[in-house]
Amino acid sequence: MTWAVVPAAGQGRRFGGETPKQYLTLAGRPLIEHSLLAVLSHDDVDGVMVAVAADDPWWPGWRELGGKPVLTCVGGGERADSVLAGLQALPASVSEDQWVLVHDAARPCLHADDLARLLAIGQAHPVGALLAAPVRDTLKRADATGHSQSTEPRDGLWRALTPQLFRRGGLTRALLAALHAGIKATDEAMALERLGLRPCLVEGREDNLKVTTPADLALAEFILSRAGKAPVT
Ligand code: CTP
Ligand code: MG
Repeated sequence: MTWAVVPAAGQGRRFGGETPKQYLTLAGRPLIEHSLLAVLSHDDVDGVMVAVAADDPWWPGWRELGGKPVLTCVGGGERADSVLAGLQALPASVSEDQWVLVHDAARPCLHADDLARLLAIGQAHPVGALLAAPVRDTLKRADATGHSQSTEPRDGLWRALTPQLFRRGGLTRALLAALHAGIKATDEAMALERLGLRPCLVEGREDNLKVTTPADLALAEFILSRAGKAPVT
C-alpha cells in the first residue's frame, strides 16, 4: 500500500516556450499522463497526489487515471516545497509509517520493471531507496575561467533518478529540516543523507530520462515508441 507524490509545479525554464514541459504532447498524450500512468500501473500504488502551480491553467483536471484516484494540491517555489506540499496533502489514511513514492512529472519513460524493483528493495530497507544510474562520463572540474582544471574520479558516483521511496513521516521531517536549515534539497535522498541516513541505491535504466530541453522530448518519444507506448511517426 503506497501513495505517490508527483511534483508538477515547475515552469520548465530550461525547456523554454509558453506551455510548461510537463503539459506538452508526447506520443499523443500530455507528457505528465505518461509519468502518472507509469507510477499508477503498479498494484501496490493506491493513488497519486500531484503538486501543481497555483491557478495552473494547463492541468487537465483528472480525478482518476488507470482506475485510481488522482488528487491535487498547490506546489511551491522549489521542487522540495512542492514535494513537501504533496506529502502534507496526502489523505489522513496514509500513516506516517507508510511508504510514499516521489516521482518527477517530467520523467515519462519510467519502466514498470524499475518501479517494481524499487518497491521490492526499498520496502525491505530501513531508510528507503531511490532509482539511480552509475555515472559513465568522464567528469571535469572547471576553474573560474571555465577551463578544465582536473578530472574527478567517477568511482562510486551515481546520478539520482526518480521514483524515490521513503516513509511519509521520515521524509516530511527531513524535508522540513532541510528547509529550516536553508538547504535546497534537489532530491528526497539528499534531505535524508544530511541527517546521517543512507538510502539504498537501486540501479535503474538509463532511459528513465528527465525531460529538460527540447532535444529530450524527441528522445522520450523514441524511448516510448520502442516500449510500445507510442506509434513510430
Ligand atoms: N517542480 C515542482 N515545483 C517546483 C519546481 C519543479 O513541482 N517549484 C517539478 C517539475 O514540474 C518537474 C520536477 O519537479 O516535474 C523536476 O524539476 P525540473 O526538471 O527542474 O523542472 P522545472 O523546474 O520545471 O524546469 P527548470 O528547472 O528548467 O525550470
Ligand atoms: Mg527545476
